Parts: sequence; structure tokens; C-alpha cells
Amino acid sequence: MDGPIAFAHNQLARRIESGDTVVDATAGNGHDTLFLARKAARVFAFDIQREALEAAQGRIEAAGLANVTFIRDSHVNIPLYVAEPIKAAVFNLGYLPGSTSTVTTKAETSVEALRNVLEILVVRGVLSVTLYPGHEEGEREAQAVEKLLAELDGSRFNVFKYLPLNKKKAPYTMLVEKKGAKDA
Ligand SMILES: C[S@@+](CC[C@H](N)C(=O)[O-])C[C@H]1O[C@@H](n2cnc3c(N)ncnc32)[C@H](O)[C@@H]1O
Repeated sequence: MDGPIAFAHNQLARRIESGDTVVDATAGNGHDTLFLARKAARVFAFDIQREALEAAQGRIEAAGLANVTFIRDSHVNIPLYVAEPIKAAVFNLGYLPGSTSTVTTKAETSVEALRNVLEILVVRGVLSVTLYPGHEEGEREAQAVEKLLAELDGSRFNVFKYLPLNKKKAPYTMLVEKKGAKDA
């Protein structure tokens, strides 16, 4: 069975088309960036850590791809860089895997960034958020993100949660789809 990241990728892969513009809100080591770059026309990849962006950029170059714009800034500022509507966005929150850095995503900024991205998502566009409640800030963040997504207008958005029920504080994924006027 798919873990939370593979689940998110599989859902996004069904929606992203070759001409689409998409966002990786937390580039990290670039695994999600690479997935997006293989599916979409253009990727905007954000991270606040130089170490992360270098790793992500290396992964994209090694794959022979050149359709990613890397931006060293907080995902709160996505609207300053992305002027066009987007088909998908990935928020893989938490710490940079394999790093000694103590930098992690934060509840307040993640919620603000998600709000901003929901505005520029096209109808039938999809957003994935992977949450890591196993550490203190991650748990606070998961609660804040869930509150935001659970309160979205059900006539405008579909919101789903994919979570292992029998593992305490395990990572999990939430998916948001923007609905069209005629969608049920
Ligand atoms: C779990 S990692 C991302 C994993 C990555 N997507 C991959 O495929 O390897 C989370 C990343 O979020 C970054 N981050 C933390 N706060 C951020 C912010 N405000 N804006 C953008 N990125 C942020 C961290 O530097 C870290 O690299």
C-alpha cells in the first residue's frame, strides 16, 4: 500500500497535464520537485534553506530537466513570484531529511501559504499537504492545517485525509481539490 508521499504523488499524477504550471512549496532534497518536473511544463520550487535548494537543483540537473525555477524564499511569498494560475501544489512540511538543520516549517506560515495557494489554484487543481505530527511543532502545525482545511467551503473544495489509523503520530497526507461551479 502507498505511504503518504506516494499516495500524494499518485493523486497529483492523475490531474497534472504536460502544459501545466505547478508549485513545490517545500523543495527540500528535491524528490517532490523531480516528480513535478517530470509531469508539468513549469515548476516553481521554494525553500528557505540554501542546502535544500542546492540538493533539489542537483537532482533536477542530474535528471536532465530544465523546467524548474528555484526560489530561496518562504512559501508565504509564493504570490510574489507566481503570477499565473497553477494546477497543483505540494506542501511536504517539516524538517529537511538527512540534515542537522533545526529549521522546520511552522504552523502560522504554513497556514498563510496554503491560503495563498488555494487562491491561485485553478478549478480541478489539486493541492497535497503532508504533515509530520511526530515532533512538537509538527503536531501544532498539523492541528492548524487540519483546522484550515476542515473549514473550507464544501461547495468550493473537496478535502480528503489519508492517514494510517494504527500508527500513533505517523506522517499523513491531506488533499484538496478546487471544484468547478457544476461539480457536485
Ligand atoms: C520535509 S522537507 C521537504 C522534502 C522535499 N519536498 C523532498 O522531496 O525532499 C521540508 C522543507 O521545508 C523547508 N521549509 C521550512 N520552512 C519553509 C518556508 N517557510 N518556506 C519554504 N520552505 C520551508 C525546509 O527547509 C525543508 O527543506
